[in-house]
Amino acid sequence: MSSIHDIKEESLQLLKDADNLEKLEKLRVEILGKKGLLADLMKQMRDLDKDERPVFGQKVNDLKQELEKIIREKISSFIESEMLKKLSEEKIDITLPGASLKHGNKHPLTLMSDAILELYTSMGYTVVKGPEIELDKYNFERANIPENHPAREMQDTFFVDVERLLRTHTTAIQTRVLESESNNLPIKVICPGKTYRRDDDDATHSHQFIQIEGLLIDENIKMTDLKGTLEVMATHLFGDDQKIRLRPSYFQFTEPSVEVDLVCFNCKGEGCSVCKQTGWIELLGAGMVHPKVLEMAGIDSLRYSGFAFGLGVDRAVMLKYGVKDIRSLYTNDVRLLDMFDRFD
Ligand code: DAH
Repeated sequence: MSSIHDIKEESLQLLKDADNLEKLEKLRVEILGKKGLLADLMKQMRDLDKDERPVFGQKVNDLKQELEKIIREKISSFIESEMLKKLSEEKIDITLPGASLKHGNKHPLTLMSDAILELYTSMGYTVVKGPEIELDKYNFERANIPENHPAREMQDTFFVDVERLLRTHTTAIQTRVLESESNNLPIKVICPGKTYRRDDDDATHSHQFIQIEGLLIDENIKMTDLKGTLEVMATHLFGDDQKIRLRPSYFQFTEPSVEVDLVCFNCKGEGCSVCKQTGWIELLGAGMVHPKVLEMAGIDSLRYSGFAFGLGVDRAVMLKYGVKDIRSLYTNDVRLLDMFDRFD
């Protein structure tokens, strides 16, 4: 029968030889486990005299605690040295690129609108919006397009009822502002918004598109003011050397009316397939607000004059970035959207 002393010596020797966590765990069970060395010792209790039992029990217990303590200390020293080993072996390459976080971009139509609105607000214009479901009165009549006028044909749209329709142009916001501000002149506004037409969608037409309307009314406003304002916009949007030309045109709400063309960005005016060999690309419509339009809004057309322009934002985006099909601006293909993370 082994004595407490023998078991202690044996255990200490075994623990001394244990050189890794796995061995140590095995020994812990062999020494302290239910069928371990100490349990065997305890069995000897039965054969002792009653008065010897407490002393024996105490001794075994002391030994148990001593061995437990040794095991605990060995475990933590193993863990510590393993950690140190790992730390010294592990190398972190801080030059490796991190996982990139995907962030959203502004839609190209928003980028273009923002750029235009920023420019005009910096020149003192106020941004004004209007309803998309508009009265016939503001969309057509006040723009000098009376009922049954053939010009309505070009801007057929979706009617909600006889007098309400989805606005065909942001000129409807212009006629509203002229009325509401007729006693609060001068007027200097920039009006963005969605517009609608009964168009068959194709590469350059969509039943819904975005326009921005500019309007300035004051005393002594001349065509040259319009030209200068548009030149600033052209260079701001398309680059410092961007040239424009004004070409005579016709709109019911302006007199005289002009179509504004950009020198073709592709061939710089030489003539190519993008500009249909003309060297110019049409960007927007503009003109001096028709005296009749001013008078209908209650503004004295002898004292006041002004200019207006209406620009298709979709068209500007297509020209600037070479987008061939307007529908790709509305189908939300992320591969296209990812290409626009800033305006430049
Ligand atoms: N409303 C016209 C259109 O949608 C664009 C336009 C032309 C607006 C001339 C204007 C303007 O303010 O003066 O085709």
